[in-house]
Amino acid sequence: MTNHDFSRFSVPSAEPLQIAVVGSGYVGLVAAVCFAEMGHEVICVDNDQRKVDALKGGDTLIHELHLPELLNRYRNTRVRFMTDLAEATRECQAIFIAVGTPQSETGDADLSYVEAVACEIARTLTSYKVIVEKSTVPVYTNEWIRRVIERNGVHRELFDVVSNPEFLREGTAVADFLHPDRIVVGSDTPRAAALLAEIYAPLTSGTYYQKPDHIRGACSTAAPPPLLDTSTKSAEIIKHASNAFLALKISFINAVANLCEAADANVEQVARGMGLDRRIGARFLRPGIGYGGSCFPKDVAAFRSVAEQMGVDFTLLCEVEKINVGQKKRFLSKVRSALWTLRGKRLAVLGLSFKGETDDIRESPAIEMVKMLLAEGCSISAFDPAAMDRARQVLPPAANLAYEESAYDAARDADALLILTDWQEFATLDLALLHKSLRYAIVIDGRNLYDPQVMVQHGFTYLSVGRPAATPVRDFVSIS
Ligand SMILES: NC(=O)c1ccc[n+]([C@@H]2O[C@H](COP(=O)([O-])OP(=O)(O)OC[C@H]3O[C@@H](n4cnc5c(N)ncnc54)[C@H](O)[C@@H]3O)[C@@H](O)[C@H]2O)c1
Repeated sequence: MTNHDFSRFSVPSAEPLQIAVVGSGYVGLVAAVCFAEMGHEVICVDNDQRKVDALKGGDTLIHELHLPELLNRYRNTRVRFMTDLAEATRECQAIFIAVGTPQSETGDADLSYVEAVACEIARTLTSYKVIVEKSTVPVYTNEWIRRVIERNGVHRELFDVVSNPEFLREGTAVADFLHPDRIVVGSDTPRAAALLAEIYAPLTSGTYYQKPDHIRGACSTAAPPPLLDTSTKSAEIIKHASNAFLALKISFINAVANLCEAADANVEQVARGMGLDRRIGARFLRPGIGYGGSCFPKDVAAFRSVAEQMGVDFTLLCEVEKINVGQKKRFLSKVRSALWTLRGKRLAVLGLSFKGETDDIRESPAIEMVKMLLAEGCSISAFDPAAMDRARQVLPPAANLAYEESAYDAARDADALLILTDWQEFATLDLALLHKSLRYAIVIDGRNLYDPQVMVQHGFTYLSVGRPAATPVRDFVSIS
């Protein structure tokens, strides 16, 4: 680990720093408004003119707690939106790259967006800048960015490249950014490390948490987040290894859930028993229909691919992926085991986003499940509190697919209700009203949001993941 001296950043500088953030998606936009909230001046650049116009007009474009409030506070003042990366490069000291790094056909991260941004920055670089990888990238990307900028004729003295991976979670992105468990800064020069330490000083010094209207979260003036000072390669690996480990934890508990079903045990009891062990921890031990989203699937694949290219046997990650794919098929079998045949069945589906409290449907297991059920000939009435507009863009319009205004509208006259996303509001439904709405009182819960006994008391047949089926009528369903 590198050990740069950050002691002079125990008090943030009085002057705001000039920061550019390239990409105004889930990470870029959140980073931009949070840097402004920390006192800096930010230019947020996107090459999508429609996005830039919408953001200038106050539309957040994504569903994220606190985002409207912060955008409103800083829009067109401390955060400016534009498409002109050259202008942003000229004006700013640090340029954070937060563009997408999607999965390519081979499983590798597609780094063409990062490369395009690096080339564009190189064209206008005339004074010292720190270029920061905020996007999730494989190890060695830092060196490639440096090489690309040098190839475009920029002298090595004029820039540094730093890795500062982002760990925010969609749904709680703003609070996560301002209250991180850790801030990782991977840099190979003291000068670049110092600028990053200065940028994050309002958090690491704890002064941000003294602001009367600060966004609340786990950190405080007494317990500010630590800044971890590493090499660039270590920082790149920290991000991939963290996401791969979390995905592994989910697949592990899903495999345990399947074992519990076979043994007629209860995975919630098992997970609690495991999670109370501080060496294991309770988080990410929630069984379900598998992980999804724009990060875990692609990051596991990219990490596996990097290991393969470097001759390292990491086939453990193939098993993580295999269990994840299997989990969705298992859930489909569970629906079939409860309903006997699927063709012509009318199903209520709660949840389309990849997890609760977000409108993101990228790699959503719920969307995949809907596609599988439609292919089986079911008709579906779906409800999601935020993701229906996005779902309409990826699910082809069909006579047997309807979007409803509420969970109860979706449930009306349905043969069964399926819970596919862990939205908080789905855990507190009016069970009497739900029972009245459904044609058959069958709930198949892919997120274990309810206590089986409570469901039985309300007259439901209730199937969940890794727990015995609960039914008011003995032997009505069986888990195959
Ligand atoms: N979404 C998350 O929860 C999350 C969390 C941590 C890390 N990450 C990583 O952060 C990165 C960004 O993820 P995201 O979810 O914000 O992606 P996103 O797709 O929501 O946003 C990317 C943005 O970059 C813009 N863009 C693409 N090329 C550009 C260019 N040449 N110039 C300017 N703008 C350009 C796009 O228009 C888009 O607005 C990815 O590497 C991702 O893995 C994401």
